[in-house]
Amino acid sequence: MLNGALRGGDDVPFVLGRKRGHILEDVDGNTFADHVSAWGAAPYGAHPGPVRDAMSRAWDRYGMEITNYVQSEPVLELAERLIELAPEGITRVAPTVTGTEAVEGAVKLAREATGRPIILSFLGQYHGESTYLTAASSTDRPDNTSANAQYVPGFVFAPYPNRFRAPFHRGPGPHDETLYIEFIEDWLLRHQVEPSQIAGVLIEPVAGEAGILVPSQDFWEGLTRLCREHGWLLICDEVQTCLGRCGPIWAGDLWGLRPDILLLGKSIAAGGQPIAAIMATEAVLAASGTHLGGTYAWEPAACAGAIAGLDILARDGILENVAELEQIARAELEPLKGHVPEVGDVRAIGAWAAIEFVTDPLTIAPNPAFQAAVHRAAVLRGVVAISEEAKWVYRMQPALSMEPELYRWSCRQVAAAIEETARTLEADAERP
Ligand SMILES: Cc1ncc(COP(=O)(O)O)c(C=O)c1O
Repeated sequence: MLNGALRGGDDVPFVLGRKRGHILEDVDGNTFADHVSAWGAAPYGAHPGPVRDAMSRAWDRYGMEITNYVQSEPVLELAERLIELAPEGITRVAPTVTGTEAVEGAVKLAREATGRPIILSFLGQYHGESTYLTAASSTDRPDNTSANAQYVPGFVFAPYPNRFRAPFHRGPGPHDETLYIEFIEDWLLRHQVEPSQIAGVLIEPVAGEAGILVPSQDFWEGLTRLCREHGWLLICDEVQTCLGRCGPIWAGDLWGLRPDILLLGKSIAAGGQPIAAIMATEAVLAASGTHLGGTYAWEPAACAGAIAGLDILARDGILENVAELEQIARAELEPLKGHVPEVGDVRAIGAWAAIEFVTDPLTIAPNPAFQAAVHRAAVLRGVVAISEEAKWVYRMQPALSMEPELYRWSCRQVAAAIEETARTLEADAERP
């Protein structure tokens, strides 16, 4: 009935019956704490009342409308509200439906604004599922690369900073992140591409799908220096990190980044309807003739829902809650490192926690089988988080509004699932 990719993997072993607040209920009535939050698109729980009401009012009033042709009040209000929140220098917005389209649009805009062809991107990032992006920059899974990457020109790649698992090193970090900048300067710019051919740098401020990797201040200083020196536009893909996921409104605020192009998705939908956005400076977007958007981009009800979401973000202590969730993850999950040999690394930032599994703490060889077993044990204990087939970083991605007590309980269930899995493996190994 469904396509192969949806049938394989068995990642979530139940069919959803209903959703309430931060709880998923399967068709048999079993309940689970929701640490997927619609992959971040439901940051305030299942269906926040103000978002539902705003969407319903807008739909009654405007129905379905094509914003690329007929604009309505919610469209203009949302644009204004986003610009108020944006980092300094960002003054324009272009509508899209998905994060994928936002990234595609950003690549077109960077090329248009600079007249240069090449985008510098980072290995292991994820930017979406269109042919161009799975081919050219979405290398979070090797099957994407082998199926597509060789067919698309226009990108060059450098390694994304990884403090636990750096390229060209054996064993765990931390590592000096100025080396990543040196690689770009001494290898990429010398042997592969002229700096004057690069239009922009496409980067996730915190890499989500790659396993919640958080670059250092040193890295960002080096990268922004290169942007300044060579006239490269800084394109921050905040589709996954925007509007509070990592603590501040923009993950780039953690290092004072000033992007030329800023991409939003997921959280902006506020659990309502699909919506995403490209934001950019006057220089990039004011005089642009590039066509962006499409039939469904910024449909009035989606905009009204997004505005109601921004109200929740401003009014309901969401960022304070996110800060508390981060502290809880640190307190509950970090002690697993050193205590369970298969736990190679624990990373927590904002309402995001990652646990990276290894076969051995010295070689840090990836351990996807352990992760799959932990995931199954956690589901049986009532926690559904993110565990993808063939990956070895388990991610907890709750709504930003999750009650701290539910989050603490969930972290404890995951910790217990990890300890239980380690004990089972130990017992299996000792069995004659
Ligand atoms: C950083 C990043 N960019 C782009 C996308 C693509 O967004 P969408 O799934 O809305 O097309 C994602 C989705 O996970 C993402 O994490």
